[in-house]
Amino acid sequence: MSLPTSVLVIGSGGREHAIVKALLASPVRPRVACAPGNAGIAAEATCFPVAADDIPGLVALAQREHFTFVVVGPEVPLSLGLVDALAAVGVPAYGPHADGARLEASKVFTKQILLKYRIPTAPAGVFTEVAPALAYLRSRGAPIVIKADGLAAGKGVVVAQTLAEAEAAVTDMLAGNKFGSAGSQVLIEDCLYGEETSILVVVSGKNYLILPTSQDHKRIGDGDTGPNTGGMGTYSPAEVVTPALLDRIETEIVKPSVEAIAAEGMDFRGTLFIGIMLTPQGPSVLEYNTRFGDPETQVVLPRLVDDLLATLWRAATGQLTTSGRAPEKPDHALCVVMAAKGYPDAYPKGDVITLPTRSPVGVQFIHAGTARNVAGQLVTNGGRVLGVTALAPTLRAAADAAYAACAQIECVSKYYRTDIGAKQLNRR
Ligand code: AMP
Ligand code: GLY
Repeated sequence: MSLPTSVLVIGSGGREHAIVKALLASPVRPRVACAPGNAGIAAEATCFPVAADDIPGLVALAQREHFTFVVVGPEVPLSLGLVDALAAVGVPAYGPHADGARLEASKVFTKQILLKYRIPTAPAGVFTEVAPALAYLRSRGAPIVIKADGLAAGKGVVVAQTLAEAEAAVTDMLAGNKFGSAGSQVLIEDCLYGEETSILVVVSGKNYLILPTSQDHKRIGDGDTGPNTGGMGTYSPAEVVTPALLDRIETEIVKPSVEAIAAEGMDFRGTLFIGIMLTPQGPSVLEYNTRFGDPETQVVLPRLVDDLLATLWRAATGQLTTSGRAPEKPDHALCVVMAAKGYPDAYPKGDVITLPTRSPVGVQFIHAGTARNVAGQLVTNGGRVLGVTALAPTLRAAADAAYAACAQIECVSKYYRTDIGAKQLNRR
């Protein structure tokens, strides 16, 4: 089957901007559009004002505009069955059906699969009632990890250092209403220690392609302090994942995960993003996501040798016929997320952003929460605003370029971590 020439990307974040850029670079020179997109995407591709969770609206858009392929960025439309709805009208899409999206949408479902197939993961209990949950907490002691079952935009996990903190989290999730139905079940899981890595895998049924390794920085503050966020910066490759360790991750985690998912009856065609803790005892699965990571995508895609469009299309249409590693460029990529001051709590919107008139060499300003105001100025429109991404022969050079570019951005509410990549740079 020849490659599609008219592609619709769903979403509005930095991940989607990176995907749009990579698709536009395809030798097929496809028409690329996005719904709903952001100000940066709009500068490169047509954006349609249809929300990412408006399933009938997106299906109607794909049909009306004759898109022949849809690439779904975020988890919400996947779990709402967008790919199923598109398939029903004959539009192929990259991303799992709703059954596969449950691997992200329900942490309990995933934990049960991990345990059933003996894939390394922390021991955990599942609770729907406060009293037995508190009893379990007291029997395990702190530190301990509490996870709301459902989608909670990265805010459903509490790594509690004390029993009091753990008890408050459990009570909050099960008895409070902050998490809605996402909090009707909780997982209480042993705390793991080590560095984390994100392994993105393009899956097509029983076959898979492991993309370049990366490492995210989840906490808001320098030195991994403060609350968890959606991700404050990334770099690729993550050299903490040595070739020997990657072999082990493939054998002990990736291959068994793909096989388990197929054995459970899911025909998974999309990204399986495996969050892994590199513990002293070996790699252990923290979570599955069923989409590209944000901001992992911003550093992984620029390092791919092969055409992204061809890769995603083959996976979506069952034409990925072997398994292995995606060829990668030797360059290092690093992304610094510029957030709005206050994120991940309340933050202002509408602050004017002035980007340098010329991008520094090797740097891309990947847009996330950006928009145009009525005067046409670029303004902040979300918690994570920009992903300042550099590609260079060394990680040091990539970090220097990205940070030089960050310093040139003018915005009253700009905030970013100053130590993205430091762990790897200091290791040397
Ligand atoms: P998750 O959404 O499950 O990946 O959890 C979000 C973050 O919480 C992870 O990236 C880790 O930093 C942390 N986390 C999750 N599970 C554990 C665990 N069992 N032990 C220590 N930290 C964890
Ligand atoms: N950066 C973590 C995520 O996309 O979930």
